Amino acid sequence: MKTHLSFAHLAGIETELMAVLAVDLQTAKGPDAKPEPALLTSDEAVKAAAAAVLSSGEYKAGANEALLLHAPAGLAAKRLLLVGLGKQAKATVHSVRNAAGTAVRFAKPRGIRELTFVLPESELLPSVSATRAAVEGAFVGDFDPDTYRSDRKDQSMQSFNLVAAADADQTALQAAFTEGVIVGESQNFARSLVNEPGNKLTPTILGQRAALMAQETGLEWAVYSTDKLHELKMGAFWSVSQGSAEPPALIVLRYEPEGVTDGPVLGLVGKGITFDTGGISIKPADNMEKMKYDMAGGAAMIGAMRAIALLKPKVRVIGVVCAAENMPDGKAQKPGDVQTAMSGKTIEIINTDAEGRLVLADGLAYAKQLGATHLIDAATLTGACVVALGMVNAGAFSNDDETYAKFDTALATSGEKFWRLPLGEEYAEMIKSDIGDIKNTGGRWGGAITAAEFLRVFAEETPWIHLDIAGMAWVEDSRPYIAKGPSGIAVRSILEWVRSYQA
Ligand code: BES
Ligand code: MN
Ligand code: ZN
Repeated sequence: MKTHLSFAHLAGIETELMAVLAVDLQTAKGPDAKPEPALLTSDEAVKAAAAAVLSSGEYKAGANEALLLHAPAGLAAKRLLLVGLGKQAKATVHSVRNAAGTAVRFAKPRGIRELTFVLPESELLPSVSATRAAVEGAFVGDFDPDTYRSDRKDQSMQSFNLVAAADADQTALQAAFTEGVIVGESQNFARSLVNEPGNKLTPTILGQRAALMAQETGLEWAVYSTDKLHELKMGAFWSVSQGSAEPPALIVLRYEPEGVTDGPVLGLVGKGITFDTGGISIKPADNMEKMKYDMAGGAAMIGAMRAIALLKPKVRVIGVVCAAENMPDGKAQKPGDVQTAMSGKTIEIINTDAEGRLVLADGLAYAKQLGATHLIDAATLTGACVVALGMVNAGAFSNDDETYAKFDTALATSGEKFWRLPLGEEYAEMIKSDIGDIKNTGGRWGGAITAAEFLRVFAEETPWIHLDIAGMAWVEDSRPYIAKGPSGIAVRSILEWVRSYQA
């Protein structure tokens, strides 16, 4: 998708489709409260073109409500699309992100390949953050997962043009626009990895895709396999991999900004299970195909590293992705086995389906060995997290309030929804083992938390955040602004968290 930012007058812009945003000004509630849709533009020509439909009562400017006008009078545009942000008081830059996605997803099935999106004029929507959000939303909306359909028609947008008011701070907007392109493309890169089925994206291939990205963006990289796992004594990571004919991949990406030799080193650790059958504790057949997205945490880290490489924040970052297939096999690990992790801790395997925490245990230890002073991990870790938070919020955990506060601030920019869940000694008790140091499951209750407690054992005293994205990595029902399929969640939040550490 080509992108362009301009500051032209709206009436004269020749375009297939011009999208303009609207809010509902109505504040009263109750049966007599009629919606009062209003456009977020001061352009008289656009307002005149939409005046009749706005006064008709047909259009309410609800969130992502779209209405198309052909041959709008007084405009050079062929079509005018109104996209709603909902009630004015509730409209945020995150509604703008979604509205841009909605406009793109409105255009695509109609064969419209070119869109001009009008940056909203509103005191409540700062133009710099709205610019970035609009571009991100356009990329998010442009992604479709139908890669392997032989009747696939490439409906992707050819060009997305953002138009801002002529008196705007053009330099600031251009910077935000460029940033939005990088972030949107990086999120879609992560989604394209998550979308791949297990046979097309083995750990080795995930490693190759990460390496190619690193070469293109100038990151230092290394992709290791079985021998390195043995050399590093990664007994927990290897225990998952040993049951698969596919070798594991230990993916390491390094971002070293010029001139930054001290300060924090951020360690980004991702779960990269390219397929999770459950292993010997095998999963039921129903929905097992979904477990191709069990590498979404790893993909999020690779996507975030891409954005970091291009945006060049002044802070050192290391990405570690532990990729493996969890398979049942004659060589697979068994419940009751005891594994020794890289840190030296012994783990009693209760359930081979609790494999994510095993690969992450060694990933976290390795990131620390490489010098990470702060850790963040992302993983499709537990069904229990989905039970707790549904598909609305992802779970977040931390052993350090100060570190988490920075993540919370990052969420305000990213617009992604995470909900912090507790940790605590009582939960840690639930994963004590009789035969070894800890066991890899803590029973049914509080399953997302005991999984996080397990990881905490390997983060040790290093400030650490754990993101459980099991319920959020895959969009189950398409929405006006995003296709059903991989969401790319966590890429934007991790990136913002990293940027908050800049010197
Ligand atoms: N990959 C799954 C978790 C998962 C569930 C991801 C649903 C996406 C959607 C994970 O490896 C797993 O199997 N977890 C088990 C842990 C249990 C055995 C303690 C679970 O949640 O059931
Ligand atoms: Mn599992
Ligand atoms: Zn898993």
